[in-house]
Amino acid sequence: MTLAELSAVLDIIDRGGEQNIHLTGLHYDSRRVRPGFLFVAIKGFQTDGHLYINDALQRGAVAVVIERELDLPPGTAWIRVANSRQALGQLAARFYGYPGSSLRLIGVTGTNGKTTTTHLIKEVLEAAGRPTGLLGTIGFRLGTKVLQTERTTPEALDLQAIFRELLENQAQAAVMEVSSHALTLYRTEGTEFDGAVFTNLTQDHLDFHQDMESYLNAKAILFKSLGQGVKKGPKYAVINGDDPYGSRLAELTPVEVITYGRNSACQVRAEKVRLAPDGATCRVVFPGGVLDLKLKLTGLFNIYNALAAFAVGLQEGVEPATVATALSQVRGVPGRFERVDRGQPFTVVVDYAHTPDGLKNILQAARQVTAGRLLTVFGCGGDRDRGKRPLMGQVAAQLSDYCIVTSDNPRSEEPQASIADIVPGLEKVASAAYQRIVDRRQAIATALALARPRDMVVIAGKGHETYQLVKDKILPFDDRQVVREELAALGYTENRHDVYSND
Ligand SMILES: Nc1ncnc2c1ncn2[C@@H]1O[C@H](COP(=O)(O)OP(=O)(O)OP(=O)(O)O)[C@@H](O)[C@H]1O
Ligand SMILES: [Mg+2]
Repeated sequence: MTLAELSAVLDIIDRGGEQNIHLTGLHYDSRRVRPGFLFVAIKGFQTDGHLYINDALQRGAVAVVIERELDLPPGTAWIRVANSRQALGQLAARFYGYPGSSLRLIGVTGTNGKTTTTHLIKEVLEAAGRPTGLLGTIGFRLGTKVLQTERTTPEALDLQAIFRELLENQAQAAVMEVSSHALTLYRTEGTEFDGAVFTNLTQDHLDFHQDMESYLNAKAILFKSLGQGVKKGPKYAVINGDDPYGSRLAELTPVEVITYGRNSACQVRAEKVRLAPDGATCRVVFPGGVLDLKLKLTGLFNIYNALAAFAVGLQEGVEPATVATALSQVRGVPGRFERVDRGQPFTVVVDYAHTPDGLKNILQAARQVTAGRLLTVFGCGGDRDRGKRPLMGQVAAQLSDYCIVTSDNPRSEEPQASIADIVPGLEKVASAAYQRIVDRRQAIATALALARPRDMVVIAGKGHETYQLVKDKILPFDDRQVVREELAALGYTENRHDVYSND
């Protein structure tokens, strides 16, 4: 494809040099440029792609997309646009031949529940015989193929490449997590969704979005985009009807809206909810029917995640009974309320909760299924929304009998600093009982040593992660593996097959 042909989709301010030059590829990272490539200079948080144009040209780029006027080496073909991030998405979709237009694409957004809900939707569609790709925090997955990805939602170029790969592997659909960062940074530009799901909106990422209004507006981008493209087939939004922001998003949605939840106005609603240590049950009432649902996942929040997946299943034309059976067979999602059992007389759960609302939900679920005390080990990520730290401290103290505050992923921050931000929240709770242990392994070992029969130990914040980010180092650290090792040190070595362990 030539530069002229590829850039036909763009809103171009100005251009120069040979436009009929043949392109072999495109990239936004100059280190990934190869001879014949188009280099798209995008402004990042740490740096700006415009500074790497010479590097890209030395690596063989034959043309560049820029946002501002620059003195380029003579003979360089160039295109100037208002927003090169947006352009990257449009160019990538065209370069890969709009692979997303031949897939049913479902995007899931919300502060919490994206990973869990996308896993459930994938199971529902596959139960109906539709190979479905899964993209999100835990990476990219199709059938047995699993690929780690850097972000919850990949950059636009990588996303289109993944859609192309899915098509080449006979996928019929893709379900993906769409983060608010991705929507704000045009990562889904060039992607046309058929369905969008809203789980909930609570405090998080206010280091990126100044306030909850901007955070909501970022999420709204996904819903406003529905049905605005050329793709055929039904378009819909599945929205949590019990979340206060849900109705705002519904008003902004130009296609059919299906609400789910527990209030009587919801089209897909749960009644008679029962939570147990090893699962949850409810009656699902939906347009045209009623079905009993038995999940292996516990927690009220998972009833919501299952309702969302149920509603998507109905919208995608899957038989309700098939939907219910598929949901009932899901054993769990890596790092979400994941039990580690080595024959110890108390329960240990590893979970990814890293927001005040996520922590509240997981601890309320834990409290409901714990006969003894609830001990919570948690911290907060460095270089992230500091405002949520005292809120998490308060939630943990309110819902736990004992807390150990420790490091999560400190990144460039001193671990003690994020711990110091958490403590005022704990101190707000008169009955708070807690200690600080900076070293996460030691914190976990201490909690396990303190646990008595019938207690539950919840280790929150890192879930499926197998690393810890400390300064610029990526250190191997997996909460589940550390728990297994520390339980063994306490003499608990029974090889009880954990849902996800590789033993
Ligand atoms: N529907 C929900 N509402 C509130 N909390 C939830 C919900 N589902 C899961 N959680 C809690 O939040 C944690 C994160 O869940 P999950 O990974 O599914 O969310 P996510 O939206 O993908 O998060 P991230 O934005 O980090 O990718 C879970 O471990 C659980 O504690
Ligand atoms: Mg996720």
